[in-house]
Amino acid sequence: MTRQLFVTTALPYANAAFHLGHIMEYIQADIWVRHQRMMGNAVHFVCADDAHGAPIMIAAEKANLTPQQFVAQIASGRKQYLDGFHISFDNWHSTDGAENHELSQDIYRKLKAAGFIASKVIEQFYDPVKNMFLADRYIKGECPKCHAKDQYGDSCEVCSAVYSPTELINPYSVLTGAVPVMKSSEHFFFKLSDPKCVAFLREWAIDGNRLQSEVANKAREWLDGEDGLGDWDISRDAPYFGIEIPDQPGKYFYVWLDAPVGYLASLKNYFNKIGRDFDAFMADPATEQIHFIGKDITYFHTLFWPAMLKFSGYKTPDRVYAHGFVTVSGEKMSKSRGTGISPLKYLDIGMNPEWLRYYLAAKLNAKVEDIDFSAEDFTARINSDLIGKFVNIASRAAGFISKRFNGQVNTLWATDTDSFLTSIRSIAPEIQALYEGREYGKALRAIMEQADIINAYVDANKPWILAKDPANDAALQEVCSRLLEAFRILTLYLKPVLPEVAAQVESWLNIAPMQWSDVATTLPNGHTIKPYQHLLTRVEPSIFEALFDAPTAPVAEDSAEKAASANIEELSAEISIDDFTKIDLRIAKIIDCVAVEGSTKLLQLTLDIGDGRTRNVFSGIKSAYQPEQLIGKLTVMVANLAPRKMKFGVSEGMVLAASASDEKANPGLYILEPWPGAVPGMRVS
Ligand code: 2FM
Ligand code: ZN
Repeated sequence: MTRQLFVTTALPYANAAFHLGHIMEYIQADIWVRHQRMMGNAVHFVCADDAHGAPIMIAAEKANLTPQQFVAQIASGRKQYLDGFHISFDNWHSTDGAENHELSQDIYRKLKAAGFIASKVIEQFYDPVKNMFLADRYIKGECPKCHAKDQYGDSCEVCSAVYSPTELINPYSVLTGAVPVMKSSEHFFFKLSDPKCVAFLREWAIDGNRLQSEVANKAREWLDGEDGLGDWDISRDAPYFGIEIPDQPGKYFYVWLDAPVGYLASLKNYFNKIGRDFDAFMADPATEQIHFIGKDITYFHTLFWPAMLKFSGYKTPDRVYAHGFVTVSGEKMSKSRGTGISPLKYLDIGMNPEWLRYYLAAKLNAKVEDIDFSAEDFTARINSDLIGKFVNIASRAAGFISKRFNGQVNTLWATDTDSFLTSIRSIAPEIQALYEGREYGKALRAIMEQADIINAYVDANKPWILAKDPANDAALQEVCSRLLEAFRILTLYLKPVLPEVAAQVESWLNIAPMQWSDVATTLPNGHTIKPYQHLLTRVEPSIFEALFDAPTAPVAEDSAEKAASANIEELSAEISIDDFTKIDLRIAKIIDCVAVEGSTKLLQLTLDIGDGRTRNVFSGIKSAYQPEQLIGKLTVMVANLAPRKMKFGVSEGMVLAASASDEKANPGLYILEPWPGAVPGMRVS
């Protein structure tokens, strides 16, 4: 029986380009989907931009665009990534599409009719300058506990205290700097606390294999927690970029209400294009609805989303598959630390997308574990496994068939009892089950074990020795034909991971695109293959120098670089006061300063920034100052710059220095010094 699958990946916010985490999720889902298609199952694989919400509205405003224009701009950049990494979505839509407006409103109306919507007047901070309510992240102030300045409205980054924005001392709006005022407004709530809802979720979360065990446990914790489930605030007041709540002018759905509805909207949009009946498909009990998501959004997908669907009479999800994050060399990706990987840069510098697909697949399993990207590991897996074991088989057999036998294979030997090939074929159900269970790492290991067996066959039968004596032609043709057949089966196994390589192999072997059932077929006797063309190149480890962004350079080096490239330096793009206030500039006293051994540019400064806090900073000012000239001086530093690892140690900020743009003609470098009276720790604004 063929299955009928509706598969999604999480909808990315339309305010930024894809990062490696997005691509990893798409590759994970794409491998699963391609495998299902090879099984002959009907798959509809869709995604969309998550277009709504305050951050996108504000970003659009800053860019001087309407939110729609802003989202369209981001959306237009998606294709190059998706095509680039061979992600085979059937449709890409937007949560701002007409289908999503209709479906979200329909779900809301049905929830309301079923008694699951309540309204309540709540008080919230409001920016009187911008005339809008402020979400917690748009309010900052002094931590009520440790008195650290400029902490967000929900928690303190210094002492980790959690509080509500109303507890902040001297709160201010991040958007305008204005002092927020309390204002009340009517909000709409989805009654998650309704006993019917709790009972439903409890069952849904533990039923069958719907959730991974760790996710099911988490859901149970949320459901059985002391406070139970609170009702969910699903409305936001204008101005908001979102979908209007029916019959409630000026009220919009909170972005997280309409975002998952976007899954359905994208499918509906797709079905409209291909002339299929969306309602009938969703009403069909055979339809399986499967969501691939990151571990950070399980709450939404295991509580809100199934409950919304259930009580509005829609089909509920059959599976939610959560994955972990991608780390780089064991750390969270960070641009400034030089561990950021831009997927576009990966493609631009000519790295093969199938290397990444293979590498990620080799590390993926069915658990909610983070996976680490390491250049050494990447190189080893591609060069030793993929090239050394797999591609090698083709190159060892191809030449003889082309040159000695006119490209013709002889498969007269192929009978059901050919033990060499039978054993390679026999793992097909195991590989298939591993793909189905998202145990890609195990699948690739099992495939590579077969590659080892095949390579051992080459070594045992030595075609290059057979080729020396024409009397062995029949044996040579047989050995090489067997190898080609074995290689064809391995390619079939790897096809969900390596779709382009598989297409090249199919073209080279002169065969139709392989389905899973082709594992049982054999190249016909006398079949002619085309001349072999190299399938994949090896990874040169030096490529990683281009892949990883260099850590952010200290300011003096940075400005020197700029000066070299232009005589007149343009003023930088305009920024808002909000952008400026993000930079925490402090008066710092240079309490120690030494030259950095091995560096012609750097001095290492120890800075006192008040209240007993010191910072270690590397600065590219060695050409201008002797260390002893600086000790005891006051200067200005960027105190909230993310620490970055440099060759000589971790730099915890940046001191400010002036330099001319035409550095060659005017090489001076001048560190800033405040007027007398300033003391360490004072804020510079
Ligand atoms: O966390 C995110 O990036 C959200 N944009 C995911 C939404 S998934 C779905 F619900 F739309
Ligand atoms: Zn604090």
